Amino acid sequence: MRIVKVNLGKRSYPIIIGRGIFNQLGLYLKNLDIGTDAFIISNAFLKNKYGAKLLNVLSRNGFNCHFNLVADSEKAKSIQTASRVIKALAKFDQKKKVFIIAFGGGVVGDLAGFVASVYKRGISYVQIPTTLLAQVDSAIGGKTAVDLDLGKNLVGAFYQPRLVFTEVNFLKSLDIIQVRSGMAEVIKYAVIKDQKLFSLLENNYSCLMRRNLVILEVIINACSRVKAEIVAQDEKETTGLRSILNFGHTLGHAIEAAGGYKSYNHGQAVSLGMVVAVDLSQRLGLIDAKLGLRIRNLIKLYGLPLKLKGVAVDKVIRAHYHDKKFSGQENKFVLISGIGKPRIVRNIKLDLIKEAVRLLI
Ligand SMILES: NC(=O)c1ccc[n+]([C@@H]2O[C@H](COP(=O)([O-])OP(=O)(O)OC[C@H]3O[C@@H](n4cnc5c(N)ncnc54)[C@H](O)[C@@H]3O)[C@@H](O)[C@H]2O)c1
Ligand SMILES: [Zn+2]
Repeated sequence: MRIVKVNLGKRSYPIIIGRGIFNQLGLYLKNLDIGTDAFIISNAFLKNKYGAKLLNVLSRNGFNCHFNLVADSEKAKSIQTASRVIKALAKFDQKKKVFIIAFGGGVVGDLAGFVASVYKRGISYVQIPTTLLAQVDSAIGGKTAVDLDLGKNLVGAFYQPRLVFTEVNFLKSLDIIQVRSGMAEVIKYAVIKDQKLFSLLENNYSCLMRRNLVILEVIINACSRVKAEIVAQDEKETTGLRSILNFGHTLGHAIEAAGGYKSYNHGQAVSLGMVVAVDLSQRLGLIDAKLGLRIRNLIKLYGLPLKLKGVAVDKVIRAHYHDKKFSGQENKFVLISGIGKPRIVRNIKLDLIKEAVRLLI
């Protein structure tokens, strides 16, 4: 078992990572003195698969539990679902002290964190991430959100959990497409911050894809450390440091949106975004062609796309600019000048961006 701490003064919390640690969840919660009544937000699939075990571990430690299930799709990250969940929470919250458990992937985690942040002006919540993406990324750092029709993650808050409890064994049942999607974020961490992780990914492809849980634990630990360190220094993305986590995401988000959130999942879109960022880094003379190739090879190795299919380049560029206009931000890309050397570059010429995106086809 490994423990990574997110250092945020009074709001600090641990990330507990391990294989076969689920039985200890109740004890960790008890030690937090977090409350007695657990309102568990999850989906039907996860409840069927792991619900009985979760209930057992909680009730054995004296917790009173209630499951609230949401749709198994990004659609659950909506104001409508949040409103329904909040009403159910208010009904459950009778006498004792209630807290929320987010039991699922990034969708459940973002929604549950949002509900926790607004209910009674904020109550405690715990993340139990069950996808690789959630374990290495979304469960850590307190970004909570729901979507609007106008765009993703438009309503939300920075609101930190009290605990992130990462049982690596959950990944045994995860679909291979979801494993690959999570690997895109892992590659992102390696490229921006961790040379050692980068080599480990190059050398352990087959073990990782066979879901060797020992190596998965090692990489989840490495990624959690990187994210915890960045969040501790720039919790609310004010100094700009946290924005290096957006490597591959600037165009990745545009690709996801241009494909109507159907053509590419998050990890695949981020991979394409990383390919563009690598290409731009090369064009601006920040890295040489050899390193560019090494990164593209790693993305390909993990079954992630290098080429854009079925989504028009113009649509991607339009989605990118819509995003920027909407947020009032200047054009800002996270590029690299080497492995572990992120560089924020502002106002890249549109022609250059277009050329880099065209190279994807
Ligand atoms: N808050 C953040 O910092 C942050 C960061 C990155 C992404 N996100 C958000 O995360 C969301 C994507 O998260 P995701 O990729 O985890 O998707 P997801 O939550 O939709 O989960 C993917 C699928 O895997 C299933 N699943 C979950 N755990 C499983 C398990 N152990 N075994 C089998 N199946 C399992 C889910 O039911 C779902 O069908 C997006 O909404 C994105 O915006 C948030
Ligand atoms: Zn991401």
